[in-house]
Amino acid sequence: MANRSAQELELLEKARRYLPGGNNGNVQHEPERQFLLQRGVGSHVWDVSGKEYIDYLLGSGPMVLGHSHPAVVEAVTEAVQGGSTFFATNDRAVLLAEQIVEAMPCAEKVRFTTSGTDATFQAMRVARAYRKRDKILKFEGGFHGSNDYALMSVTPGERGGNFPHPVPNSAGIPKAIEDLVLIAPFNDAETATQIIEQNHDELACVIMEPMQRVLAPKPGFLQAIRDITAHYQIPLIFDEVVTGFRLAYGGAQEFYGVTPDMATVGKIVGGGFPLAAVTGRDEIMAVYDSSRAEPDEFVSQVGTLNGNHVAAAAGLATLAELRKPGAYERLHGTGRRLREALETLCSEAELPALTTGEDPTFDILFMDQPVSDYRSTLANDRGITEQFNVGLLNRGVLKGWPSKFYISLAHTDEDVDRTIEAFGQSISEIRT
Ligand SMILES: Cc1ncc(COP(=O)(O)O)c(C=O)c1O
Repeated sequence: MANRSAQELELLEKARRYLPGGNNGNVQHEPERQFLLQRGVGSHVWDVSGKEYIDYLLGSGPMVLGHSHPAVVEAVTEAVQGGSTFFATNDRAVLLAEQIVEAMPCAEKVRFTTSGTDATFQAMRVARAYRKRDKILKFEGGFHGSNDYALMSVTPGERGGNFPHPVPNSAGIPKAIEDLVLIAPFNDAETATQIIEQNHDELACVIMEPMQRVLAPKPGFLQAIRDITAHYQIPLIFDEVVTGFRLAYGGAQEFYGVTPDMATVGKIVGGGFPLAAVTGRDEIMAVYDSSRAEPDEFVSQVGTLNGNHVAAAAGLATLAELRKPGAYERLHGTGRRLREALETLCSEAELPALTTGEDPTFDILFMDQPVSDYRSTLANDRGITEQFNVGLLNRGVLKGWPSKFYISLAHTDEDVDRTIEAFGQSISEIRT
């Protein structure tokens, strides 16, 4: 990008020298568009050269209050002044567990981890210990972090193959794991039900994002999966790392009205700090309790930073803000305004496009067919997406790359107006 400061150019050079690919593995831009973020306040972030962006990346979701929210800063400062970490169970983690249990319909007990990847890995292990079976069923296109079981058929492209066979999404995953993961199509209750019926006796659990990436579930789909898993007593895990405390205070399970047996939460619940959790029914979570689990079903989980009290303080302060009246109306309202403007602008420009997801986190796909599952999203015109994203970035609007807008309570009407203006200008530049 133009106007990089000497300091940023030097740091970018160091990034290329010291980090594989010059990045942390999350956001990967072409060399001419690389930048390094340095600070964030409210709905805005700044790079090292001082360029300001309206932030819809939001740390990939956690910063639902915006950056450096005063209540979070105060809670974290107070916590850290009393030490950084204890390993032993601490007061704030207990209070955060209480809040999670009060919020989420499926939650009776909570075990903290430090990342969503670890939480989903743990949840699957808990289900295996409880059910005494080994196989996992996940959905094509679903993302549950970077553990070996999760990184199957996330973005298989045209190599999707036949259900229920998985396609690993990374090198380095042992071949043996492929035999333990079954894949079903999202939003296709009939096929998913058939696969579950055919494999029910080997399944430890079904894990799913209730809103998969930015695909909302069709009416009845989640309930169908709930019904068939309940029928065979297979634990159903909702991965609510994205949707937890975002679609509603009680997550997707509250928003869509379907209660799983277990859930994973992360992102918002750690208030921007490394904290995530496995939660679920007491009877299942008892495998973590050595006083209740039989020796052959006890699940060992030790983590240096489990329930770290600074992260728990950030989570508690974040949830307290989200409990204030009107928070979710505002979050949905801001997202809705942006989505509607985007759809109108595309339609005026006669550009085939649709927005997907739910208002607090959504995206735009440049295509004219409806989408319901991973394969249908492959019709999205990636060239147009790239032009649109570059147009926004040039105008100081930062979003997920290539996909997703996250909305925060810090986004103001002025932010939304400026974003809509940038939408219009970026769309007018698109060449098909
Ligand atoms: C649905 C879902 N599950 C799990 C994860 C992994 O979480 P983390 O990045 O904290 O490991 C993510 C990360 O984006 C996610 O979106």
